[in-house]
Amino acid sequence: MAQEDVFKKLVAHCKEYGYVFQSSEIYDGLSAVYDYGQYGVELKNNIKKYWWDSMVLLHENVVGIDSAIFMHPTIWKASGHVDAFNDPLIDNKDSKKRYRADVLIEEQLAKIEDKIQKEVDKARKRFGEAFDEQQFRTTNARVLENQQKWDELHQRFSNALNDSNLEELKQIIIDNEIACPISGTRNWTDVRQFNLMFSTEMGSTADGAMKVFLRPETAQGIFVNYLNVQKTGRMKIPFGIAQIGKAFRNEIVARQFIFRMREFEQMELQFFVKPGTELDWFEQWKTTRMKWHQALGFGAENYRFHEHEKLAHYANAAVDVEFRFPFGFKEVEGIHSRTDFDLSQHEQFSGKKLRYFDPELNESYVPYVVETSIGVDRMFLQVISAAYHEEEVTGANGEKDIRTVLRIPAVLAPVKLAVMPLVKKEGLPEKAREIIDHLKFDFNCQYDEKDSIGKRYRRQDAIGTPFCVTVDHQTMQDNTVTIRYRDTMEQERVPVENLRDIISGEVSFRRLFEKLK
Ligand code: GAP
Repeated sequence: MAQEDVFKKLVAHCKEYGYVFQSSEIYDGLSAVYDYGQYGVELKNNIKKYWWDSMVLLHENVVGIDSAIFMHPTIWKASGHVDAFNDPLIDNKDSKKRYRADVLIEEQLAKIEDKIQKEVDKARKRFGEAFDEQQFRTTNARVLENQQKWDELHQRFSNALNDSNLEELKQIIIDNEIACPISGTRNWTDVRQFNLMFSTEMGSTADGAMKVFLRPETAQGIFVNYLNVQKTGRMKIPFGIAQIGKAFRNEIVARQFIFRMREFEQMELQFFVKPGTELDWFEQWKTTRMKWHQALGFGAENYRFHEHEKLAHYANAAVDVEFRFPFGFKEVEGIHSRTDFDLSQHEQFSGKKLRYFDPELNESYVPYVVETSIGVDRMFLQVISAAYHEEEVTGANGEKDIRTVLRIPAVLAPVKLAVMPLVKKEGLPEKAREIIDHLKFDFNCQYDEKDSIGKRYRRQDAIGTPFCVTVDHQTMQDNTVTIRYRDTMEQERVPVENLRDIISGEVSFRRLFEKLK
């Protein structure tokens, strides 16, 4: 199945099984805003717990905060967002559709990469075991020609971004014959800058009202509290402040479901270090964060680092962690070495000193900062994309069937186990409820008695429940049940009193955290 079709199915599945709904759906929806349903919110909470505990529990020098969404408007002047938090936009005059000029060019680069990859895949099939990818990439004429095209375009694009050269961005679009996907024409407007911050007014009277912004990142709430936390927590450098919270951006092109939203959630860490040590810490956090992603078991080949074409105004090093979504490799997380830019700016604009007195050096300085910033929603999409599988299975009657299963890592799964009485009589429902009453303090359990057992298994597979426990007549005799494992579909008979241990082992955050060592 084409990856585009897989993605469409995934989006439909998220709606059908209570994971993600379009916001304000009964009013025809609100573009790029989404609501999380009964299972979606559980998965989201589990993702947040994984991130939070891996930061705050596992690092004794990291603490958390929860700052307000509204902040003093001068903060956004100091941070550079009022003047520089822009995307370059371009309109197609025929379709009247608006695009990000940089994204159009990135998509062109991705098309060339795809061409190269197709050649490589074809050759791998042809040569089998003997295939030497490195040699092929450096000698095959078609690959070399495309690689040269890619290098030239990439270089030109980087230069245009670094120089904020909007005319050159348009020229690149024209020279590369990039057409609007809707109208198919190359009838483009000039490229203009568009500020992404939402604003509103605070205060009751028009005269007294103050223009405030909905924060476009949670990071600034950490910077302006840095000294509060350092002093009250008696934190010593190096130390970090973590935060999870909503952020808002008026994205020009909001596409690909929850990948790019106008209201979303971030999990950010600002790690304060001694000036001059920031690039070492940057490397350490790169390793730590990649481990965090890969510990979920979605395959190391599905991740890569991507160096930025253009460093943000505050950074002296920056890299993205990219994941292979059904629509290609895309950013899930950004890791930036932000220098002392933010704290110095806040010193200047607030007139308050934000220095750290280093007892070892016996001097004060403005700390440097390494940031890790990941979107909860993008992480959610990563998990769901990796988990979604359609597989052919053979039913009890020998007929082939398609099973749709979410292979969500058990530790993140919204529902850990479903307990099902084989029939709705003879004391089986009561026994099933008794088992749930016993386990519900430890796990999110679901009771299910409707339809045949086969249909119930499929329903649980579709929401990603890792364990199904069936109560039958034998249970009433010997207090044993069958436990069915989602991924292998194997079943085994176990005593009821063993259930907690079997499930605990699989859903334990501890086991996941041990992989991060
Ligand atoms: N404080 C740094 C910062 O905000 P960013 O690269 O703009 O950096 C960090 O954003 C992460 O936030 C991204 O890697 C992505 O996961 C998430 N993110 C950013 N914009 C988003 C959007 N419109 N919708 C969903 N997630 C978004």
